[in-house]
Amino acid sequence: MKTVQIFDTTLRDGEQAPGYSMNNDEKVRMALQLETLGVDVMEAGFAAASPGDFKSVKAIADTVKASSVCSLSRALEKDIEASAAAIGGAARPRIHTFIATSDLHLKYKLRISRADCLRQIRHAVSYARKLCGEVEFSAEDASRTDIDFLCKAFETAIAAGATVVNIPDTVGYSTPDEFGTLVATVMNRVKGIGNATVSTHCHDDLGLAVANSLAGIRAGARQVECTICGIGERAGNAALEEVVMGLRTRRDAYGGLATRIRTEEIARSAHLLSTITGVRIAPGKAIIGANAFAHESGIHQHGVMSKAETYEIMTPASVGMKQTELVLGKHSGQHALETRLKDLGYDLDEGRMADVFAAFKALADRKKQITDRDLAALAESRVAARSANAKEWKLDSFVVNSGNHMSATAQIALVRGKRRVQDAAMGTGPIYAAFRAVEKIIRHRFTLEDYRIEAVTERRDALGEVLVKISDARGTYRGRGVSTDVIEGSILALLVAVNRMMEARK
Ligand code: KIV
Ligand code: ZN
Repeated sequence: MKTVQIFDTTLRDGEQAPGYSMNNDEKVRMALQLETLGVDVMEAGFAAASPGDFKSVKAIADTVKASSVCSLSRALEKDIEASAAAIGGAARPRIHTFIATSDLHLKYKLRISRADCLRQIRHAVSYARKLCGEVEFSAEDASRTDIDFLCKAFETAIAAGATVVNIPDTVGYSTPDEFGTLVATVMNRVKGIGNATVSTHCHDDLGLAVANSLAGIRAGARQVECTICGIGERAGNAALEEVVMGLRTRRDAYGGLATRIRTEEIARSAHLLSTITGVRIAPGKAIIGANAFAHESGIHQHGVMSKAETYEIMTPASVGMKQTELVLGKHSGQHALETRLKDLGYDLDEGRMADVFAAFKALADRKKQITDRDLAALAESRVAARSANAKEWKLDSFVVNSGNHMSATAQIALVRGKRRVQDAAMGTGPIYAAFRAVEKIIRHRFTLEDYRIEAVTERRDALGEVLVKISDARGTYRGRGVSTDVIEGSILALLVAVNRMMEARK
């Protein structure tokens, strides 16, 4: 069967996006899920960027066996050496080296000539090949590079030993027609192209990353670089799930090409990413959003019930989302909850399951019928909140007073290991007062960057889902909390973000 290789860069380009940073353990967890998903290559990070990046690239390379593990490097010896050292333990290591090739970047960013650029490519690729059997070369800003020079750059890289040449639409400027023509030109004009795999790497600034990637595949590219949920620099990268399901659902339109992705693992991969980063999956997100298979109108519901294909071009099960009519309530046991969460793509370990079950029981006392959307919100918030780290702050109790003729006051007690700390604060509103009380307890100031609250479902007893983004001098941190009480949900969300902030400080 003719295949397209899936190169996942969630842990490198994806992690570069603000608010998506992950710690070492989280990256390894995500890498293991990407391996289960069946990605051919995973870009584990940029080893030379920092000691922390080096450590996580190495940890992933030492752990993952079935996928090739790759580290990014500028076209510099020291970067290439760091990559080689970090991926040395991988079963199938790959060094990815890049340099910009557009005149704009050469003149204003790198301040080098085209001839210097070719020299650097030759040296970097041949140096990398001495250290690793698989070397990928990327021409950054390829889509805005003079085509003759781009072909020369790829020829130089292939002659120096590159096994993959990647065509990035770095700033998401291309259109599908243009990008397809660009790939076709590279395939037809570059000498030695038969010795390398041609790859696409499209950004989503104009919302065309997936369309451009698919156009690249039609034109002959056999590797696609993409990320789970399309996360990445600025507007993000091509979304893996959309590229993969596009190829699978429209095999007729893409020459029968297939991928090795286990598509039933897609929902689980996206949920894990959302859980780790605290960033919610938009309900309308293609393939994995909560509404992606929801049929609201009567006509659609009737159609789907008589024959699913009337309004469904793929089944929820094919991407790992099973639908049943099961509604859980306070009499449901842990087994029913576990089964339902598995169907929704959440495979939780024993400790996390026990934690979600306790939260589920507490919720069932307040809310009669618990829907799938409630369960997903609950699982994601509880899983992100729970950590084996005894140093984390947890909510013990709170009392908040507010009214239209008084200042709001909040009294909060948090526990950290065996310590219980209590404090109170006033504010212009109850959430503000509660957040100030938390700030006093943890003795660390932060800025509230964003605060959002949404009802998970429509009824009066709906769960409130709160998303909080805070920052300090080191970075930004997100948290999510759910509760039928929006003040409790807000404090829980804040504590997830606070614990991430405290961990980053270490
Ligand atoms: O967008 C880009 O050009 C990149 C390269 C480093 C491949 O991420
Ligand atoms: Zn990129």
